[in-house]
Amino acid sequence: MSGRGGVGKSILAVNLGAVLTKRGDKNIIIDADLSNPSIGLHLGLPYSAIGLQDVLGGQRHFRDAILVHPSTGMRVLPSSLKYMRGASLRNLARVVSEVGRAYEFTIIDSPPGLVEDVLHILDACDEIVVVTTPDVPGVSSATKIISLCKASKKRVRGVIVNRCTGAPFELTVREIESMTEAPVLVRIPEDRTIPASISMRIPAVYYAPDSPASRKLGEFAMSFVESGKHEFERPGLIMRLVSWIKRIFS
Ligand SMILES: Nc1ncnc2c1ncn2[C@@H]1O[C@H](COP(=O)(O)OP(=O)(O)OP(=O)(O)O)[C@@H](O)[C@H]1O
Ligand SMILES: [Mg+2]
Repeated sequence: MSGRGGVGKSILAVNLGAVLTKRGDKNIIIDADLSNPSIGLHLGLPYSAIGLQDVLGGQRHFRDAILVHPSTGMRVLPSSLKYMRGASLRNLARVVSEVGRAYEFTIIDSPPGLVEDVLHILDACDEIVVVTTPDVPGVSSATKIISLCKASKKRVRGVIVNRCTGAPFELTVREIESMTEAPVLVRIPEDRTIPASISMRIPAVYYAPDSPASRKLGEFAMSFVESGKHEFERPGLIMRLVSWIKRIFS
């Protein structure tokens, strides 16, 4: 999610999915930006007659809407490119729980700002990552989104700071953490290979794996997934039994 538009949410979603795909982790990206869907465009996916809107409306099963990126095998549940009156993410939680049974990781790309659809995304997901650029307008909007997440009792994993150039006027990690009251997970540099990868319709981590942004994206995705895995792993039966007995005796 992000407070402001154009900070790099979709690019980060695409590349997180790409790193997981490279690792062999079964994942899918849901393009939940109904107004300006861009995941399919970033990946050059063919126009599809079935979109997330049809799945939300119950007319189609999510499997009928999935598109596969030919050169990487990435899975995407795209949003329809045509205008659909009255479309809303009201039923997203149901769709995400069905999708979640088939995939190990479900990445949801959100529209920017505090629009109503963002509340439905909050409802549907386990945790949030907020994306910002290292400037005051971006970070103050990110702070608003983080407050909304916290008020909704949603776990905010942290903030990704994108398009960093290292210029002295950019906000530092410490400043961003103190404004948002959330940890900065990674700083992704401004990198020409990102727009170049979009023009080639290939995720940057595949197109230019050694570019500065791709390297950061790769490191981040690995640590993000590995640390998250342990938190989401449910303890086995024996461990639960042991902790239950310990609780009784204490
Ligand atoms: N690290 C980067 N280096 C250079 N350009 C970048 C970087 N990250 C994003 N961009 C550029 O910013 C543009 C916007 O990125 P993206 O579409 O991911 O933003 P967004 O937050 O999803 O936007 P929206 O809010 O409109 O959905 C892209 O076209 C891309 O070229
Ligand atoms: Mg986007």
